Amino acid sequence: MAAIVSGRDWSDEIKDRIRRRYERLVEERDFLPEGARRMRDSGYPRAVLERLPDELAAAYCGCGFPAAALDLRDVRVAVDVGCGAGIDAWCLASEMRAGSAVVALDMTQAMIRMFVRSRATRGLRASVWPVAADLERLPLASAIADLVVANASFNLAVDKHSAFKEAFRILKPGGRLAARDLIREGELPGEVLEDPLADVTSLGGAVPEEALRQEISRAGFVRIRISDHRPFSRLTSVHIDAAKPG
Ligand SMILES: C[S@@+](CC[C@H](N)C(=O)[O-])C[C@H]1O[C@@H](n2cnc3c(N)ncnc32)[C@H](O)[C@@H]1O
Repeated sequence: MAAIVSGRDWSDEIKDRIRRRYERLVEERDFLPEGARRMRDSGYPRAVLERLPDELAAAYCGCGFPAAALDLRDVRVAVDVGCGAGIDAWCLASEMRAGSAVVALDMTQAMIRMFVRSRATRGLRASVWPVAADLERLPLASAIADLVVANASFNLAVDKHSAFKEAFRILKPGGRLAARDLIREGELPGEVLEDPLADVTSLGGAVPEEALRQEISRAGFVRIRISDHRPFSRLTSVHIDAAKPG
């Protein structure tokens, strides 16, 4: 659903501001401090932290480790939607078999450029395809992916229904969604509720757990599990696991 407040559709404005916010973070290297420590606290293995370029670790904007406990042996194509600096795409590509592929997709071109310039994927067995695009309208064919991962990006989707529907569309039957995302457990402050542009931030974009579950289910996913609740600033970070019927 589009962000319509007072009869006006704010979707494009919100998306533009999100994009500009992340462009600025890259241009000014103004990421939250201690990216590597935050990744370690989120459960990323030590081996990942030892090999990932410092520049990318410093740009970590996620809220957990979506690929934790994933069996990647049969994954030939994976897509990281809202990949930011490409950390999770890199993690997948460093574990997947030769001949497999990972699409690293983000609408903020500066993020994608940063990932490409880091040359982090040199020497990995899987190939990585960076794509600058909107996760609500994926420029990818239907039923091509075995796995879709996302880290703290669905909460920023202005149209969450389109976002989950697109993830569902590109998955093969039996494919899996593994995401880390943010939910809100209490009421939002009045100033956030009244501000049509609040969705620019994770605080404004996060929905309650039940609403999130309904969106994922409405897109067609089954076996939806929302688990591993962890406090994250004024929100709660959760792991999302769901499947496309086989
Ligand atoms: C909180 S950051 C997380 C980045 C990355 N997943 C990580 O863990 O470091 C959210 C990312 O989602 C991207 N994003 C937000 N809305 C998007 C959309 N509609 N389509 C594609 N990317 C989007 C932003 O550009 C940003 O890079």
